[in-house]
Amino acid sequence: MRTLITTSYRTAAASISRGQVAAFPTETVYGLGADACNTEAVQRIFTAKGRPSDNPLIVHVGDRNEIGTVVSSVPAYAERLFDAFSPGPLTLVLPKHKRISPLVTAGLRTVGVRIPAHTLARKFLNACGVPVAAPSANLSGSPSPTTWQAVRHDLEGRIPCILKGVPSTIGLESTVVDCTGPAPVILRAGGITLEELRQIVPSTRLQKQQSRVPKSPGMKYRHYSPLAYVFIVSGMEETVPMKSSAYIGLHASRGAAFGLKKICRTEKEYARALFHFFRECDRKGIQTIYCEQVSESGIGLALMDRIRKAAWQ
Ligand code: TXA
Ligand code: MG
Repeated sequence: MRTLITTSYRTAAASISRGQVAAFPTETVYGLGADACNTEAVQRIFTAKGRPSDNPLIVHVGDRNEIGTVVSSVPAYAERLFDAFSPGPLTLVLPKHKRISPLVTAGLRTVGVRIPAHTLARKFLNACGVPVAAPSANLSGSPSPTTWQAVRHDLEGRIPCILKGVPSTIGLESTVVDCTGPAPVILRAGGITLEELRQIVPSTRLQKQQSRVPKSPGMKYRHYSPLAYVFIVSGMEETVPMKSSAYIGLHASRGAAFGLKKICRTEKEYARALFHFFRECDRKGIQTIYCEQVSESGIGLALMDRIRKAAWQ
């Protein structure tokens, strides 16, 4: 299949209208979209990504008044979260509208819905005229794409269209919040922080982690992973600087010998750079990536979640 790379959101939206998929930019990561009401179209997402269909997809809309086409009800506290953080990197899990394909929700009675803040994304979504189901636009298991070039690297020849935009400014996925119970529960940390959510709904809590222990090598669970081995370190002192190793973090002390090194000024910048850095390391054949540990507050919670998942091999 030939992959068209276009800057026209109308061309990309036409692909969705034809029951095809299209990749598009958002402020978190690039998404791979299809009409959420068309099961055959949604199937194409799973095929292109090589993703098992037991993991539900997020549904995207361009405007707040479209939410009612995706979900059947919204509790008062979820309205307050939407008021505060949407459009933006926030996904709310709510009771599903019957028109959404069961393939989108992996058979669940709930659906995740998000309005991206990205201007081109919203133009594209409004031109689609249907709710758009979209996971991140990478091959299953590899790091989420934060540039159109990363989408092309993973999916060229597998999808008909990539809407070309600027690099994602947040660089990590949206915060997924379950809003089906009496209070919000964070299922996945992301671009909107726990502290920010608590300013609006103080009872917001984190879902209990199943396990923080790395799985045994025989049970390889790869997610957000570069090909290289990822190690979490508290500083450069714990590293072995070599041509085949790389370092990303907030503090530099030594280590001129690294094959690749990125020192970020803030945790926000670290978050924005992480997935791109992983991909750059793979391109350069880096075998070991050291990621500096940060405190799990603010965006640091989502950042450490992704780093930890990449380190589980
Ligand atoms: O920033 C993002 O969220 C990006 C962009 C493209 O919007 N999308 C994204 O999608 O990261 P994906 O498929 O890679 O991650 C979706 C996450 C998964 O952790 C999934 O389990 C959860 O959302 N999710 C989706 N629907 C759900 C539901 N009904 N109940 C519980 N979790 C749900
Ligand atoms: Mg993903």
